[in-house]
Amino acid sequence: MKKIMKQEEDAYGQEVWAFYNGKKSFEIVERDDGYFDASSGSRVYFSSYEEWSSKEKKAMEFVNGRVLDIGCGAGRHPLYLQEKGVDVLGIDISPLAIKEVNFKPNSFDTILMMGNNFGLFGSFKKAQRLLKRFHKMTSKNALIIAETNDPYKTDNPAHLEYHELNRKRGRMSGQLRIRIRFGKYVSRWFDYLIVSKEEMKEILRGTGWTVKRFIDSGDSTYTAIIEKETPFSNS
Ligand SMILES: C[S@@+](CC[C@H](N)C(=O)[O-])C[C@H]1O[C@@H](n2cnc3c(N)ncnc32)[C@H](O)[C@@H]1O
Repeated sequence: MKKIMKQEEDAYGQEVWAFYNGKKSFEIVERDDGYFDASSGSRVYFSSYEEWSSKEKKAMEFVNGRVLDIGCGAGRHPLYLQEKGVDVLGIDISPLAIKEVNFKPNSFDTILMMGNNFGLFGSFKKAQRLLKRFHKMTSKNALIIAETNDPYKTDNPAHLEYHELNRKRGRMSGQLRIRIRFGKYVSRWFDYLIVSKEEMKEILRGTGWTVKRFIDSGDSTYTAIIEKETPFSNS
C-alpha cells in the first residue's frame, strides 16, 4: 500500500520553503528515546560549492555520466553538476520516495546520497534490498557516492545508551528512529541508518557492491565511494 505524505507531515519541505522565502528556518530532530536535537535550518541545503567541505568537493570528483541524486533536498548538488553539463536527475518529495526508486537497467552511472543520505536506506535489510535494485538500474562501471556518520565516534552518554537500546531490540546501533519537526509540521517516524565503515562493508557484502575508497573529514562523518564488484557474486 502506498502512503502519500500529508501536507502537515512535510516538515523538511516546509523548513526549506521558509528559508527560501527569507523566513526563520530550523529543524528539530526527535528520536524515539525522547532525545531532541536542533539544527540551524536549511541554510546548508542552499550552500554553494565554495561553502562545501573538502570531503564534499572531493566526492564531486568521482561523479561520472548520468547521475541520480536520491534525497536531493533543495538540489544544491544537481544544480552544481548541471552547470558543469552533467546529466542529473534529483528525486526527493516524500519520506517514502526511496521505496519508489526503480528505473530500467543501465539508467545511471552515478548514484548520489549526499547530506548523510546513506541513512535513507533505513535498515540493514532494506539497504541490501535497495543496493541490489541499484545494481540492476546502473551501468557496469557505476558508482554510489554516499555520506554517513559513524555512530561510535561520540562520547555523548545519551547516544551510547541509545546504541545499547537499539542492540537490545535487535536493531543496528545506529538505526535511528526519528521524526523531523518544523513549526507545526511533523514528519512521520522513519528509520535513518548511520554506520561505521566496518558496518557499511558488512551491508555491501553479497549486494554486488564494494567500497572503492572512503573520504574522511575532520569529524565523525565520511563519504564512501562504492563500486560494482566484478564479477557479480550473490553469495
Ligand atoms: C539531510 S537532507 C539532505 C539533502 C541534500 N542531499 C543535501 O545534501 O543538501 C535529506 C533529504 O532527504 C529527503 N528524504 C527523506 N526521506 C526520503 C526518502 N525516503 N526518499 C527520498 N528522499 C528522502 C528529505 O526530504 C531531505 O530533503
